[in-house]
Amino acid sequence: MHDKKPFFMRDHWQYSPADRPGPGPDAGLGFDTRALHTGFRPLRDVGKFRSFVTPIAQSMTYPYERFDQFPDFIYGRSKTPTVSVLEERLAALEGGEGAVTGSSGSQSLFSLIFTLARPGDNVVTSLNIFGEGYKQAASIFPQRTGVEFRFVSDPADPEAWDALVDGRTRLVWVETPSNPCLFVTDIAAVAEVAHTRGVPLLVDNTIATPALQQPLALGADIVLLSITKFICGNASVIGGAIVGPEALCEDIRWNTQEFVGAVMQPLEAWLVLQFLETLSLRMERHSHNAQAVAEFLAAHPKVTHVNYPGLPGHPQYALAQRQMKAPGGLLSFVVPGGMRGAAAVMDSLQLVIHAVTFGTSRTICMHPATITHEHMTPQERAIAGIDDGLIRLSVGLENAEDIIADLDQALSKL
Ligand SMILES: Cc1ncc(COP(=O)(O)O)c(C=O)c1O
Repeated sequence: MHDKKPFFMRDHWQYSPADRPGPGPDAGLGFDTRALHTGFRPLRDVGKFRSFVTPIAQSMTYPYERFDQFPDFIYGRSKTPTVSVLEERLAALEGGEGAVTGSSGSQSLFSLIFTLARPGDNVVTSLNIFGEGYKQAASIFPQRTGVEFRFVSDPADPEAWDALVDGRTRLVWVETPSNPCLFVTDIAAVAEVAHTRGVPLLVDNTIATPALQQPLALGADIVLLSITKFICGNASVIGGAIVGPEALCEDIRWNTQEFVGAVMQPLEAWLVLQFLETLSLRMERHSHNAQAVAEFLAAHPKVTHVNYPGLPGHPQYALAQRQMKAPGGLLSFVVPGGMRGAAAVMDSLQLVIHAVTFGTSRTICMHPATITHEHMTPQERAIAGIDDGLIRLSVGLENAEDIIADLDQALSKL
């Protein structure tokens, strides 16, 4: 008979700065090779299906061979085979020991914090975070679980992070570059602060993706990915992942998947495996187009400000050059006239689509002050740089001239 499983919340993982896990699957292979091969090799993992493409196990239950067996896969509320291939591949791309996917990036963040923090504990972060992350930090966790969130006043200053950490801090959480103002935080510097205090560092790598930024190699312990964005790349899938120590991933699997069902489905995982094959090519082209669009906007007389880490005027330009392989596909810019100005430009766009997401092959615009960051107070939005005239632009894979021409005609309406 197999051992009886623990019934209560699992927290086997204890952070220890001295005990960094190994680099994860296929660490000896290059990034693009891992994006294509890790987790499924046709000649090694053939099974019954002699398939070139990773097969989909679109099944929610997995038969036992014997009464006393404890199989790897049992039930769709925990681990399933196609999702496991994706998890292995994401771990390989981030250089992490393990990964656990989820039904969205927001849910992956929730599951991580729910697993790490108990009532009375705290998490240190900044206001440079995505909207749902802010809502979890400002409302859901403090109001329902008694976990406190502390927002650093100046995320560019490592001492400001240090000042908020105390004996009950369970996690330091950095989003870099950040949504929607592309603030860039020094991962190595904040990692040093967190580690000195014996606390793990989470980096949200959704905007750069592992193709452009490797937070674990820079000192972070855990990575959050919204798969929904550039990892998927075309707005067909919602999903998320935590990459980090395998014991932590197992804790999350146990606490919020096995017991709660916060899982990614096999078909979604299979789709994401196909999209990952072109991740680094796409990120190169997104960056190339975004650079051209950012330069056009920065020179435009109707644009008062542009946030893009690839512009020399960006306050953390030198850091971004050091920390990222390329500046990525997301930018934001401010037009005069506040919300009315933003509405005039967005309603005049003909090629660029007004929709709530980013990281898609098609260029998308969105108004953060009313859509994603509407629950921040006006003072918090001011600290985060979210002006009423701010428009977030996710630059797609079209020909850059066509994106620029559309923006030019829309800006001329102001
Ligand atoms: C930086 C960042 N991380 C995480 C998420 C959460 O992603 P999801 O939409 O998959 O919940 C978002 C969503 O906007 C985001 O912008």
